[in-house]
Amino acid sequence: RPSHPSPPPPGLPIVGNATQIDPVAQRRSFSDFADKYGEVYRLHLPGKRTVVFVNSHRLVDEMCDEKRFAKIPSGVLEEIRNGVHDGLFTAKPGEENWGIAHRVLMPAYVCSRTFGPMSIRGMFEEMHDISTQMALKFARYGPSTPIPASDDFTRLALDTLALCSMGFRFNSFYAKELHPMVEAMGNFLVASGKRPGRVLPSFFYRAEDAKYWEDIEVLRNTAQEVLEARKRHPDGRKDLLNAMLNGVDPKTGKHMSDTSIIDNLITFLIAGHETTSGTLSFAFYRLLKNPDAYRKLQNEVDEVVGKGPITVEHISKLPYVTAVLRETLRLDSPISIFGVTSLEDQLLAGRYPVAKGESCGLFLARSHLDPAVWGDDAHDFKPERMLDEPFNKLPKNAWKPFGNGARACIGRPFAMQEAVLALAMLFQNFNFVMHDPTYNLAIKQTLTIKPDNFFMRAIIRDGLS
Ligand code: HEM
Repeated sequence: RPSHPSPPPPGLPIVGNATQIDPVAQRRSFSDFADKYGEVYRLHLPGKRTVVFVNSHRLVDEMCDEKRFAKIPSGVLEEIRNGVHDGLFTAKPGEENWGIAHRVLMPAYVCSRTFGPMSIRGMFEEMHDISTQMALKFARYGPSTPIPASDDFTRLALDTLALCSMGFRFNSFYAKELHPMVEAMGNFLVASGKRPGRVLPSFFYRAEDAKYWEDIEVLRNTAQEVLEARKRHPDGRKDLLNAMLNGVDPKTGKHMSDTSIIDNLITFLIAGHETTSGTLSFAFYRLLKNPDAYRKLQNEVDEVVGKGPITVEHISKLPYVTAVLRETLRLDSPISIFGVTSLEDQLLAGRYPVAKGESCGLFLARSHLDPAVWGDDAHDFKPERMLDEPFNKLPKNAWKPFGNGARACIGRPFAMQEAVLALAMLFQNFNFVMHDPTYNLAIKQTLTIKPDNFFMRAIIRDGLS
């Protein structure tokens, strides 16, 4: 007789386990549950919803089978969907606009990495422009000013995305105040994270709701202005906005609608900024705690890039820098959990029943530590295990920071090029130290996770290159 994925944590009537999930530190709550209940457990949430969480590689591997499980946005993603509808990140299976946008943008992102009308390589100069702004800011901080790593990497990621995707400059490294769109997006994401955990009747949230819809309007109006300006003054930029305006879906022959373009412009900013900035912040934390890896990375940068300007050709010649990022994404996946829905009544590992339509969470913060794949030193930061040779031979679905299958991250090559460039440029020009040498990793959670209160200092090496 099949056993339940349980015992489930004991909960309360009506709200189930909802009150046991820390709304500002969900990852910690899920880790605590994993410690207590093992590789699989089921949570009961208000509205008779249940979610089956899996924490081991073998069960994550099963849930990556797209014939058995599919992404159907729920929880936080459903709230974000209020702002960006059937954009790529929040679309439901079978929605036509997802298919059109996916087919129009996928070649831009993946196939034409090196050739074609719009390639990630082609965005290098603009990425370099924003990275240089950050390096200059670090130089001006001087050696004794604490640098709020996550804040500056968020500026880097947002400005890079806005410039490379729609030719728009937020100028976050110069402006005192955040651009209104950036502020609205921050508020919108925090509110989207909180809304699914509500336990009181909607009446109590009227003021919050009004602000939430106001922020959505700011986001959409700004994206619409950018779109209309481009239509009024078409240019030959090889960016995502032009790819969306001019691209034709090879399957249906259709163009993307204006609404779908606006949905996806905002989607790129949402999906791409915290994730990339979190990755860079965690990478610095890990490197500062692991002097051996720090030295190896800087030696590689010195050997490959030397003292001259970093170019696009250098990016693929920095295997250790890439390995540092992969290992960071294993230990500290900014999206530490992603969701799928069961397409049928089925058993996991031949014994844990999951019902058709039931929500499931793939908890990477645990499956990425599974000793069956990563060994007894799974908790240690060892970039060597992520050099191409071992990395390419990892078991299927062992490393999933970019999600799965058709719904995997479309921005992966973009994010990797940007992050390799930023690491290489910064280590070429600076030495780094932890501002507080006793600092130990604390996590701040919004839609993604990032190090909380992590400050470092940058000491210039011998003049900026
Ligand atoms: C999807 C991670 C950077 C755009 C995803 C998913 C993950 C992810 C886990 C799947 C989410 C799910 O299944 O619900 C990351 C990480 C990044 C990163 C770790 C940085 C290190 C970016 C960037 C962009 C981007 C820079 C945009 C340029 C998207 C989009 C989707 C997505 C549009 C939805 C794809 C679809 O469903 O068709 N990302 N992402 N991401 N990401 Fe990223």
